[in-house]
Amino acid sequence: MPDRAALVTGASSGIGYAIARMLGEEGYGLTLAARRPEKLEAAAAELRDAGYELEAVPGNMTDEADVQRVAAAHRERWGRLDVLVNNAGVGIGAAVPDIVTKRVDMQLDVNLRAVILLYRETAELLRAAGAEHRNALVVNMSSISGKAGQPWLSVYSATKAAVIGWTQAMNKELNGDGVKSVALCPGFVDTPMTEFVREHVPQDEMIRPEDISEAVRFLLRTSPYCVVPEIVFQRPGEAL
Ligand SMILES: NC(=O)c1ccc[n+]([C@@H]2O[C@H](COP(=O)([O-])OP(=O)(O)OC[C@H]3O[C@@H](n4cnc5c(N)ncnc54)[C@H](OP(=O)(O)O)[C@@H]3O)[C@@H](O)[C@H]2O)c1
Repeated sequence: MPDRAALVTGASSGIGYAIARMLGEEGYGLTLAARRPEKLEAAAAELRDAGYELEAVPGNMTDEADVQRVAAAHRERWGRLDVLVNNAGVGIGAAVPDIVTKRVDMQLDVNLRAVILLYRETAELLRAAGAEHRNALVVNMSSISGKAGQPWLSVYSATKAAVIGWTQAMNKELNGDGVKSVALCPGFVDTPMTEFVREHVPQDEMIRPEDISEAVRFLLRTSPYCVVPEIVFQRPGEAL
């Protein structure tokens, strides 16, 4: 049984999968969560084949009961939580006159509400890990568009800016308990989410999912009293 455990949402592809793989390499017991069960199971099978111990829990992060179920399944399997990765996210572009309420709600629910709810559901476990080693870590996936709002991606940008504000608040609220939070703010990363932009930005000129997972590996190694509240990943010339 691993002596540390991590829960990663949106772990079935892209950035979440890369972070989960890195955490497996680092010896963490893993709970992988994502929406579509078949895709999640395929990702889980690859990581099991690599020798990592894990639980795969499908769940829709727009559904409060699913968020609670994912947290409960993690607790049941591992009984502790050292690293929480709030990575599940969705971006739906629209010019302002074309904004559809249902899509606003979906982006708010997955990108922001689920993050808030998962903190609530796991705060006790995070605090217990913080009391043990003062290095419990929560990684919140924001975006460079959370630092500087983008046209057409306005709703997405607003949800990601809110994630930064939430992360700042959580550091003020939980650092004293040994729980550190970080907002990661990448530009275009080469994942299924950016397929729509490949015509304009070649895949090999995008940030790699492994660039993000290596940053998280670095965060695992920081000393207990070092808090890194935010990391921005830019592409060359992509100034804020
Ligand atoms: N790629 C970029 O350029 C970029 C840049 C900045 C920030 N980000 C952020 O990074 C995070 C990961 O994105 P990615 O690029 O790795 O995209 P991705 O490959 O499309 O992965 C998204 C993950 O989130 C899950 N997910 C989406 N909606 C969900 C829901 N309602 N309930 C549960 N899980 C859900 C997906 O599962 P299903 O496939 O089953 O839905 C998938 O596992 C997101 O928060 C995104 O906003 C991405």
